[in-house]
Amino acid sequence: MKHSNGLAVIAIAALALSACNNASKNESTANAENTNAQDSVTACSSYLDKKYFEDTADGKPTDLYVLKNSNGACVAITNYGGRIVSIVVPDKNGKPTDVAVGFKTLREYQGPGDAYYGALVGRVGNRIAKGKFILDGKTYTIAVNNGPNSLHGGIKGFQAVVWDATQANDSTLSLSYVSKDGEEGFPGNLTVHVTYTLGGDNSIKINYAATTDKKTVVNLTNHTYFNLNGEGSGTILNHLVQINADKYTPVDATLIPTGKLDPVAGTPFDFTKPTAIGARIDTAANQQLKNGGGYDHNFVLNDAGPSLHQAAEVTGDQSGIVMDVFTTEPGMQFYIGNFMSGKSSFKSGANDNYRTAFCMETQHFPDAPNQKTFPSIVLEPGKAYNTTTVYKFGVKK
Ligand code: BGC
Repeated sequence: MKHSNGLAVIAIAALALSACNNASKNESTANAENTNAQDSVTACSSYLDKKYFEDTADGKPTDLYVLKNSNGACVAITNYGGRIVSIVVPDKNGKPTDVAVGFKTLREYQGPGDAYYGALVGRVGNRIAKGKFILDGKTYTIAVNNGPNSLHGGIKGFQAVVWDATQANDSTLSLSYVSKDGEEGFPGNLTVHVTYTLGGDNSIKINYAATTDKKTVVNLTNHTYFNLNGEGSGTILNHLVQINADKYTPVDATLIPTGKLDPVAGTPFDFTKPTAIGARIDTAANQQLKNGGGYDHNFVLNDAGPSLHQAAEVTGDQSGIVMDVFTTEPGMQFYIGNFMSGKSSFKSGANDNYRTAFCMETQHFPDAPNQKTFPSIVLEPGKAYNTTTVYKFGVKK
């Protein structure tokens, strides 16, 4: 008895020790992982600290994830709104340069200074006239949040929801979100998967996939604001832009397309050859530039899916950083930060000044649910929504 009791004591002690060892091993592995994750974040961008993103929103955990490659590129993404917070790539002299503007903290993304910075935009990116559309005879109403229209999926669009995130390795982040039937007024439960992949060639591929259980409308995009000279380096008006579009969709004074596809030839919208963004921005007589407050228009891309086609090429005049945009989408909103107010500050400390960043939002055309001649954005049950866009970074010396 005594003997077996003694054994039992030893056995219990051994178990306790091993449990304790395992616990401390788990803890130290977790700590090491945290430290590694934090090291990756700070190595990626000295402006960022993971702890300012480790929080909860809508009862779900938020965090900051980093993709990196061995070619000097890294991308920081938060699962709050699926936002690209930072894209660091080498400039023409090899200097790491953060070409995506963003905030330092989750709180700022949730605050009034946000303008969809870096965000995944949906369920319907861009504008829906008067926030209304008809599907199978039924009128649906989405919140009017931009003058008389609805912009970027209503009040709480995909930019403000928490996505479930899985990071399998250094190059891929998978995000998922289920948008409920009736959310923001849209019909159908929509299951969305977005995958960000950083390639060894300094390309960021974004794949958008969705399915629905009821007929609905879907138009997903990403709203990263780029400054290829680096966040905080001032105006983007001297960047050179080429857009592979012979036509664009002119708009009324509230930025709703008139329904026409107008030729760019002979207008300030002709970017078929590399041209400085600001070269024709003050063309006083151009009513379209007046309507948009500058460029804030959808370009009708000459080529569209199912395979990837080049939509645009942009060069930072100081950095020599070149961004090539490829997409399967038929359109691209070229927006040059006309509404940037200068009231908030970005992660570098620079303010969000007027026209210090631009967006290239690959998409279907604005107000598609109400424009019979535009490519349809209707998604039916049993059909798969699948689009891809690639932003690839290089340099011109
Ligand atoms: C729109 C702009 C808007 C910006 C930020 C762009 O997609 O076209 O008009 O100001 O998003 O909300």
